[in-house]
Amino acid sequence: MDVIVGGGVVGLSVAWRLARDGRPVTLVDPAPASGASHAAAGMLAPVSEVAYTEVPLLRLGVASLRRWPAFATELAADAGLAGTEALDLRSDGTLDVAFGTDDLAALDELATYMEKLELPVERLSGRECRRLEPMLAPSVRGGLLAPGDAWVDPRRVTAALLAALDRRGVPLVRSRVGELLRDGGRVTGVRLGEGAEMRAERVVLAAGVWSAGLAEVPVRPVKGQIMRLRSPQPLLTRCVRGTVHGTPVYLVPRGDGELVVGATQEEMGFDTRVTAGGLYELLRDARELVPGVTELEIADVVAGLRPGTPDNLPVIGPSGTPGLALATGHHRGGVLLAPLTADILLGEEGELAALCTPGRFREIS
Ligand code: GLY
Repeated sequence: MDVIVGGGVVGLSVAWRLARDGRPVTLVDPAPASGASHAAAGMLAPVSEVAYTEVPLLRLGVASLRRWPAFATELAADAGLAGTEALDLRSDGTLDVAFGTDDLAALDELATYMEKLELPVERLSGRECRRLEPMLAPSVRGGLLAPGDAWVDPRRVTAALLAALDRRGVPLVRSRVGELLRDGGRVTGVRLGEGAEMRAERVVLAAGVWSAGLAEVPVRPVKGQIMRLRSPQPLLTRCVRGTVHGTPVYLVPRGDGELVVGATQEEMGFDTRVTAGGLYELLRDARELVPGVTELEIADVVAGLRPGTPDNLPVIGPSGTPGLALATGHHRGGVLLAPLTADILLGEEGELAALCTPGRFREIS
C-alpha cells in the first residue's frame, strides 16, 4: 500500500490517480485542502508565469497544462460532477499589461523570448487591450496576450478530488504525521501524531512546506496573501496581470463573478497572518490595473505558504531512500503541475521526470 502524506491539490491528485490505477492507497492529512491549495488562485499559466531563466519550469508547466483538460474531465466524471465547468476550468488566456515605457520594453523582450521558444503570444496596443478588457485602466499602454493560458478554481478541484477519493473508497486518515518509520535504511511507514503506526510499501511525501519537518527536503515557506472580491457581474473575461510599483499583481475572474487578487511573495518563515500592509499593496496595485476593483465587496482574505526550492523546480519521484517518494516543492505551480506530478508518481519516466528528480539535491533522504 502507498501512504500519501498531505492532502493538498498535489497529494490528493496523486492519491486519486493511484486509486484510479487500481493501486491500494491511503491519504493522511489532519485538514485536507486547507493549506496552500486553499489560498491558491489556480492559474494554469506557464507562459505568463515564467521568468527568463526558467526554461525547465516552463517546459514542466506547458506539459502539465496540456494534461489538464483530460485530468479535469476524468476528475469531474469520477467525482460525479456534470462536467469541467463545475471546476471552473477556463482557457481564455492571460493578458499581461504594461503602463510605462520600461514595462513595454520588458514585455516586448518577453514576447521575443516566447516567440523564440515557439510559444503563442500576441503583442497588443493599449487600445487593443481595452477592447479585450474594457475595465482596464486608461493608462495601460500595451500588453502581451498568452492565449493558451488557463485557470481553474482550486477549491472546487480539491473538493472534487476528495469526492472522487471517497467514491473510490480510499481511506482518508485525518491525523498529523509525527514521523516517518525507518528500518535498516528504508522507510516502512508513518507514525501518526497520536502514536499509531501505519505500515506502507511506499510513503509519498506531499506535505508542501511541511515536508521538510519529516525528511531532509530543501523546501522553504514563501508566503502568499491573496484576496477574493465579489462582483455582481464579472469585471474581466480573462486573467490580467501587470507589474505595479515593481511588484507583480494578477487578477483571476471566476465564473460566479468572484475576482481573485494575488499574491504577495514574502519570505517570513511559517507566518500565515494576513496583514494590513499585504492587503493594502494588493488592492493598491490591483486598482492601478482595474480601477473598478475598489467598488467590489471583499469576500475572503487568506495567506498560504508555497513550498519553494533552491532552483524553483519541484521535487518529484523516488528519493534516495527506498520506500520514500517525494511530491513537493511546487512553489507557485502546485495546481498547474498536479497532473504531471501524479503521472510521475504513477511511474512516468523521461525528460520531464528527470527535471524534477530528487536526486539533484544531495541532502535529500
Ligand atoms: N501561481 C501564483 C502564485 O503563486 O502567486
